[in-house]
Amino acid sequence: MTAKFIVIEGLEGAGKSTAIALCQNYFHQKKVSYIDVREPGGTPLAESLRDLVKAEHKETMSAEAELLIMYAARAQLVTNIILPALDKNTWVLADRHDLSSQAYQGGGREIADETLTALSKIVLKDLKPDLTIYLDLDPTIGLARAAKRGELDRIEQEHLSFFQRTRAKYLKIANTDDSIKTVDASQNIDTVHKSVIDVLDEFFQTEVNK
Ligand SMILES: Nc1ncnc2c1ncn2[C@@H]1O[C@H](COP(=O)(O)OP(=O)(O)OP(=O)(O)O)[C@@H](O)[C@H]1O
Ligand SMILES: [Mg+2]
Repeated sequence: MTAKFIVIEGLEGAGKSTAIALCQNYFHQKKVSYIDVREPGGTPLAESLRDLVKAEHKETMSAEAELLIMYAARAQLVTNIILPALDKNTWVLADRHDLSSQAYQGGGREIADETLTALSKIVLKDLKPDLTIYLDLDPTIGLARAAKRGELDRIEQEHLSFFQRTRAKYLKIANTDDSIKTVDASQNIDTVHKSVIDVLDEFFQTEVNK
């Protein structure tokens, strides 16, 4: 089987990190060689951009600046880490990817779809995840989970309506793309885990039979 690019998506506190740990375990069992990445971040420069985009500044960060920082970070990660890994037949497991920008900057910040499509084309070229698991959750639940962890960053402090628009965009895109599998993340951890494993099993089965 050629190396695959698998992405975990969802709002803050949806359970992405928890699902990543589950995928890692699954890959070990399947003897798949993989690397983990997270967005924004995953290279020294992209991690600096992550700090920049999450931090509070003495001025308001414009939606456009936020968008371009996200794509600058993604360009570093795609060019320097993701594509070389896939070339070496190493799988890539990502905590967020381009769909986050479509949902947060497109849905949340209401930046036009055409703008996002153009940037994606420049930065991703032909790269597209083979499988995305989208953990769908009401933002009030997710934010409460995230808040338990400590201080909220600049984006996490947005109004509820921002996250509601973000979630609506996630759902809209997930409904039109077969490679995105939606999991109800409001269920208890064991049930979410079972749903994630079911998605992985189906993906592996389909890929093996190809
Ligand atoms: N299904 C669940 N039910 C209840 N609590 C959960 C569930 N899944 C995860 N949690 C808990 O919610 C918190 C947030 O989960 P996690 O860190 O996996 O989310 P995340 O999507 O990675 O968040 P972030 O976007 O902030 O990185 C953790 O304390 C985790 O144990
Ligand atoms: Mg996380």
